[in-house]
Amino acid sequence: MKDKLEQLKIEATAAFAAAKDAAELEAAEIKYLGRKGMMAALMQGVAGLPPNERPMMGKFANEVKAVIDRALADRRAALEAEKRGAIATTEWMDLTVPGTRPPQGHVHIVTDAIAAVTGIFEKIGFTRVRYPEVEWDWYAFEALNMPKDHPARDEWETFFMDAPEDAKWGKMVLTPHTSSGQVRELKKGKLPIRMINISKTYRRQSDVTHVPMFHQFEGLMIDKDVSVTHLKGVLDHFAKEFFGAGRRTRLRPFHFRFTEPSFEIDISCDLCGGTGMQGGNKCRVCKEGWLELGGAGMVHPNVLTACGVDPEKWSGFAFGWGVERTMMMREGVKIDDIRHLYKNDFRFLTQF
Ligand code: DAH
Repeated sequence: MKDKLEQLKIEATAAFAAAKDAAELEAAEIKYLGRKGMMAALMQGVAGLPPNERPMMGKFANEVKAVIDRALADRRAALEAEKRGAIATTEWMDLTVPGTRPPQGHVHIVTDAIAAVTGIFEKIGFTRVRYPEVEWDWYAFEALNMPKDHPARDEWETFFMDAPEDAKWGKMVLTPHTSSGQVRELKKGKLPIRMINISKTYRRQSDVTHVPMFHQFEGLMIDKDVSVTHLKGVLDHFAKEFFGAGRRTRLRPFHFRFTEPSFEIDISCDLCGGTGMQGGNKCRVCKEGWLELGGAGMVHPNVLTACGVDPEKWSGFAFGWGVERTMMMREGVKIDDIRHLYKNDFRFLTQF
């Protein structure tokens, strides 16, 4: 009996020490210390001994069991410490490491330009207004002195809505220019007017200097005795504020149906420095050193009359420019294709 107990002590302590994980340890525990395990069987054997041998052997058996119990507890503690040690290497966290910054965005360059344009005109008393981007033919053309079927309308490569024609206002269009905002503002009848209408405009066009959706800003000033001099002063102010002193502007006589006299406003091209040449070739963007930004002129009396304003009492000027083109002519903004603006390519957008 004593030998058997001695043998069990050696075997059980070795088995516990050899257990590689909790599962193996549990299997060994059941085998040696379980209710139907080997220790229990020997204990039963001790209980069956003659009374004179029982106390001695019982004491010894208890000593053996204590050693085996200790071996189990030690191994369990060792395995647990091992597991905790592993967590320290696989799941550690250093709270002092600097955090990862979320990427910081910025407004789109066109949005930025719109804010700049708005600011410049607000400083000289113009108020920003907004009007629908889906407009009636009457506001976009007819009231602007372009009667139905007038060939001047061809300039605006208009998108027509698939919607029923209105008996009074005509077809529905996507605003081909912001000039319809002049009509809307004049028809309100609140004079004098100093407005800057900045909005999306749509034309069927796409090349290095055109996109089908672009933005225009339209100025309108109506008051008593407004002259071309005022127009020139406002345009010069804008050019100076927006482009800086180094850029040149010029007014070219032109023809628009809704202004008389009419002008086109040009600014020297920043891409080629106003020379019209780039690396031995004609400048891709301007071709001649000047880039047309838009038109201007004195509001035609027919426009005032159509909007219920008496041209004998009131006069004024208007101008309309493309926001994207104006922005592209800014110092240092060397964008050689206007279509980049709307491709949503981060490699492009994050440069600004
Ligand atoms: N609406 C014109 C265009 O889209 C630009 C323009 C020219 C606006 C002359 C004006 C103006 O207000 O007076 O091409």
